[in-house]
Amino acid sequence: MTTAIAAATDAILGTYRRAPMELVRGAGVELFDADGKAYLDFVAGIAVNALGYGDAGLEKAMRDALEDGLVHVSNLYRTASGERLSAKLVESSFADRVFYCNSGAEANEGAFKIARRWARAQAPAKHEIIALRGAFHGRLFGTLAATDRPQYRMPFRPLAGGISIAERDLGELEGMLNPETVAAVIVEPVQGEGGVRVIEHEFLRGLRALTKERNILLIVDEIQCGYGRTGTFWAYEQAGITPDILTVAKPMAGGLPMGAVLMTQAVADAMQPGDHGTTFGGGPFVTSVALHVFDRLYDPALLQHVTDNGAWLGTALQALADRSLKVRAVRGVGFIWGIDVTDAAKDVVARALDLGLLICSAGEHTIRLLPPLVMQRADLARGVKLLSEAIG
Ligand SMILES: Cc1ncc(COP(=O)(O)O)c(C=O)c1O
Repeated sequence: MTTAIAAATDAILGTYRRAPMELVRGAGVELFDADGKAYLDFVAGIAVNALGYGDAGLEKAMRDALEDGLVHVSNLYRTASGERLSAKLVESSFADRVFYCNSGAEANEGAFKIARRWARAQAPAKHEIIALRGAFHGRLFGTLAATDRPQYRMPFRPLAGGISIAERDLGELEGMLNPETVAAVIVEPVQGEGGVRVIEHEFLRGLRALTKERNILLIVDEIQCGYGRTGTFWAYEQAGITPDILTVAKPMAGGLPMGAVLMTQAVADAMQPGDHGTTFGGGPFVTSVALHVFDRLYDPALLQHVTDNGAWLGTALQALADRSLKVRAVRGVGFIWGIDVTDAAKDVVARALDLGLLICSAGEHTIRLLPPLVMQRADLARGVKLLSEAIG
């Protein structure tokens, strides 16, 4: 590849096995490298770029956001866009209060602190946080302790204490959820990194009932599956439950770093000035852009588009699975799909890249598809065809 940036000149820490090409431009649902090669994008910056690339409305929102000269002022002062966005987030959900931050892991770390602060006011020993088998909640010390990936965890022990992983089994949880010691359970309605597993609605309802009965908080992590990706604005809506705390991040601000923790008033009441903080979180520039993204994604027509085309995509992927001996299973909903393959996922990802299709993995043998939410049927079909070639 002529445009490959020589590894020897690359000073970026090697925490990612980055693809060799240099991306220089994006348009619609395609990215282009320095040689002019086009890539149909089924990654969307890992579930971030819901509106694709070069979106006129998003670009205008960014330009307009600069007009007042306010990029950042800190959380010592109020700005209109942060207040307006929080009102929209509250109105769209179960929540009464919003804490802004800058990433997914940060949102979950915040959620853990908020849950503990609430719990300690209930009972002195109430502090434990329980995550579930297959979970991914981030790579900071607290969130790593709630992430079920031994290879991510082992080199960094000891991880934060009081956080453990339980089986996704209501019977087992019934035995574990001691109201005197457990503060919260955290769950992704669709486990993304853990292989794209849509958690059964019955399990979510059972978990909600059990946590409520035991005065334990339910934290829903919608960092990857929220904001329309499953076809409803919030994924929890489909199970007919409401959490006590919800975390969101990736698509919130059109590619700018942003996260948020949403919570009920009862939980928020436990938090006092100084209990948590962030220098950058919820600044006027990101929240102005995020207001535009919210309005574009909190739109019944967009959500219907994701529902209808997600169902079509699921059928097309199942048809691919039915005719390929190299596909073991297909799972997903809306615009988040996982495909278990017999080959190493990284090999399929590399072959797709050669064919001009960007896909990512979710485990050794699972391909993950996260197209921009605006992708149309013809491009979805083109992607499935290229994927079929890449799988072989
Ligand atoms: C469900 C979930 N939670 C948390 C995170 C961590 O988010 P970030 O990478 O922004 O820290 C991710 C990232 O992939 C995620 O998918």
